[in-house]
Amino acid sequence: MIYPVVLAGGNGTRLWPLSRSAFPKQLLPLMGEQTMLQQTLNRLQGLNCAHPLIICNQAHRFIVAEQLRANDKKARILLEPQGKNTAPAVALAALMAMEQDPEAHILVLAADHLVRDNKGFCDAVRAGLSPDVADKLVTFGVTPEYAETGYGYIKTGESIGPAKRVAQFVEKPDQNTANHYVESGDYYWNSGIFLMKAQRFLNELKRHAPDILSVCQACFDQKYVDLDFIRLPEDLFASCRADSVDYAVMEKTSDAVTVAMDVGWSDLGSWQALWQNTEQDEANNAAIGDVIKVQSEGCYFNAQDKLIAAVGVKDLVVVETKDAVLVADKNRVQEVKDLVDCLKHND
Ligand code: GDD
Ligand code: MG
Repeated sequence: MIYPVVLAGGNGTRLWPLSRSAFPKQLLPLMGEQTMLQQTLNRLQGLNCAHPLIICNQAHRFIVAEQLRANDKKARILLEPQGKNTAPAVALAALMAMEQDPEAHILVLAADHLVRDNKGFCDAVRAGLSPDVADKLVTFGVTPEYAETGYGYIKTGESIGPAKRVAQFVEKPDQNTANHYVESGDYYWNSGIFLMKAQRFLNELKRHAPDILSVCQACFDQKYVDLDFIRLPEDLFASCRADSVDYAVMEKTSDAVTVAMDVGWSDLGSWQALWQNTEQDEANNAAIGDVIKVQSEGCYFNAQDKLIAAVGVKDLVVVETKDAVLVADKNRVQEVKDLVDCLKHND
């Protein structure tokens, strides 16, 4: 049985000023009317699986619960007192699934992905359950469109059933390396979706990051129920090392495979990604809200509250909200994260 896990505890800082710590991007309707979290849960309808587990920050518990209620969806909600990146969250998810079913497979999903072909997504997940690879750590590979440095890259080896062995997994390479990977045509992007036997993942974590496993096991043993939420002991969880599942396990394991998943996937991780996924005019401008533009090209405009008027600008990102306006070079939007760090330090 598949136990879906939705990781919804990120900060989404690269989408500032729309995404805020009180309301991060996965809880916003970035594309369409449903929020990213709601779209992620809807995507599971085509699969035969258990109720999902959502893991998020405790500060967002009521927003998450309300978004489930609005869609009449049932899920368990595990609250983290603080973000420790994805490895501890996946460890807890594996322990939770094992409690219900020692043979459980967990399907790890990010809450900030756009998937256009839902059937293709479900078919890829089912391929990951095939007997040839059911005991492997299954990643899902996307054919790269450009040399993104914010993703993981997967080089594949020989075929195993519907999948290929992972020969190399490199998380967030530098720009030169990413250029080389994309030019070579030998690499997939890592979609950040994983399917694996819960027990199998815990074994790998024990081997590669035993400290994370032991803190998470202790937290799991002391978890408690509070209204509709599952909570963790705050001080103990605070002592856990923060790391991503990609660095902690995927770069190190020799037992991963990849199933191709070219299903119109996109991580709406940056303003550039939103520009790419929004309808554009003949001069490649994408505009949301009240926007007037004259002789401008390749821009992304997002007006929440006021009119944006632009003349003769090129490759700009302009995002206007009630209390902040971002103006950025569209080719440098990864640096919005640094900008938000600066803002935090100036507080
Ligand atoms: N519960 C919880 N706790 N969730 C978290 C935490 C945390 O501390 N940190 C991040 N998340 C959630 C995010 O909300 C998102 O849904 C998912 O986990 C992935 O985290 P990101 O921070 O968005 O990761 P990334 O985009 O930098 O990199 C990952 O995804 C890429 C594709 O989107 C990696 O898996 C890359 O290899 C991959 O290419
Ligand atoms: Mg992401």
